[in-house]
Amino acid sequence: MNLFNLIKYINFRFREKKKLATKMKSYFKTNSEFLTSGTYSLAKSESGKIIAYKHNSRNKFFVEKIVDTGYIFSDWQNRIKSNIRQFVDLVIDIPTIKIKSLKPSFNGELIMVTYNQDVKIFDLKSKTVVNLVKDNHSYLKLIKTTNIFKDYFDIPIISSNPIKQTYIERFIDFKPYSNWSLGEKEDAVRTIFSNYKNYFIYCSANSHFISRDIRDELAILKNLCDGSELLATLSTVIKNSLDSEWTYVNCHGDMVFSNILLYKKNYYIIDWIDSGKHIFFYDLFNFMFGEATFHRNYYYLEKFISGTFDHYLSGVFKLFNHTYDKEKKIYYLALFLINRIRFRIENKNDENLVAVFSSYHDTFNTFVKKIKSMEKKTVC
Ligand SMILES: Nc1ncnc2c1ncn2[C@@H]1O[C@H](COP(=O)(O)OP(=O)(O)OP(=O)(O)O)[C@@H](O)[C@H]1O
Ligand SMILES: [Mg+2]
Repeated sequence: MNLFNLIKYINFRFREKKKLATKMKSYFKTNSEFLTSGTYSLAKSESGKIIAYKHNSRNKFFVEKIVDTGYIFSDWQNRIKSNIRQFVDLVIDIPTIKIKSLKPSFNGELIMVTYNQDVKIFDLKSKTVVNLVKDNHSYLKLIKTTNIFKDYFDIPIISSNPIKQTYIERFIDFKPYSNWSLGEKEDAVRTIFSNYKNYFIYCSANSHFISRDIRDELAILKNLCDGSELLATLSTVIKNSLDSEWTYVNCHGDMVFSNILLYKKNYYIIDWIDSGKHIFFYDLFNFMFGEATFHRNYYYLEKFISGTFDHYLSGVFKLFNHTYDKEKKIYYLALFLINRIRFRIENKNDENLVAVFSSYHDTFNTFVKKIKSMEKKTVC
């Protein structure tokens, strides 16, 4: 980057920050009852979250921790871009926003607007977080699902208020995922898998599940995104299979490592906004798929391919009267993806759906290649 481009970039970032400030002002207005008076600085994360926070070391430390722990493509170009962005932000730490709030009911000092335009307000001093959910349907689903999941998982939700469409969470002073040891990552998977098994036993015993025919799901999808190359690939995989009825249960819906907060050997699950009825192994496949697609880390998908999870999956499939066949891994990933695509189209307002599907397609193709190359090795 030469000097001219750098100046152009600083100018661009400055204008972008001014735009952010204007946007944030409207969030301050609607949420003033949860925020304390003072001067707030702005930040934006890689995944598009907007944050405003009162300048003190506690808040600054937390912002630095979260700004870079989300959705990051870890190739060198993006790392350079991210470093330049951080440097420019240091140089132009303006504009800030001053707010005056009369007797707030919550001592919030940091406000975050998420990708879904929901709002989280943090009071790091008393270690609590207020969550405001925009969409009533999502809010009700979230409360319903977490009420059941709380018996099987560590969830930091303390209370909810359906009239205000809010819920309060305990603030978890978590260890960022980038600092987890391999042992901690393996332990997270073990914990999540074991908690899911207990949850599935409950679903199965209490008939908390429904059946759907994958051919119907595919027909709906074809109407929604006809012409998609990914869908054509998945249709071919599905076409030859005989078992078309599948079990759907309430799931978290966005089980990725950034939604698992590690604190003192406990793994807390946050971000339940995508919860709802999904194919029963959705969450288990989602974190493997998410790691491969968004972090280019195939470690877990490779473990799946090599059979590490076969015994576990076989037990889980049996709970819902399905027979797990270790030779049908491509088919299972296709079932998961059909579910994931439908959810994405129906619930997210994606501007770049084509790019999203293309990244899903890349992961799926790499997965198929890895399986084929393993089959070749076994034959040899
Ligand atoms: N209770 C909590 N305690 C500590 N940190 C939290 C808590 N809730 C959220 N966070 C932080 O805020 C981030 C964003 O929260 P959340 O996952 O709910 O929103 P999101 O829009 O889905 O963000 P992302 O795209 O990163 O998943 C989390 O990754 C975590 O770093
Ligand atoms: Mg999240």
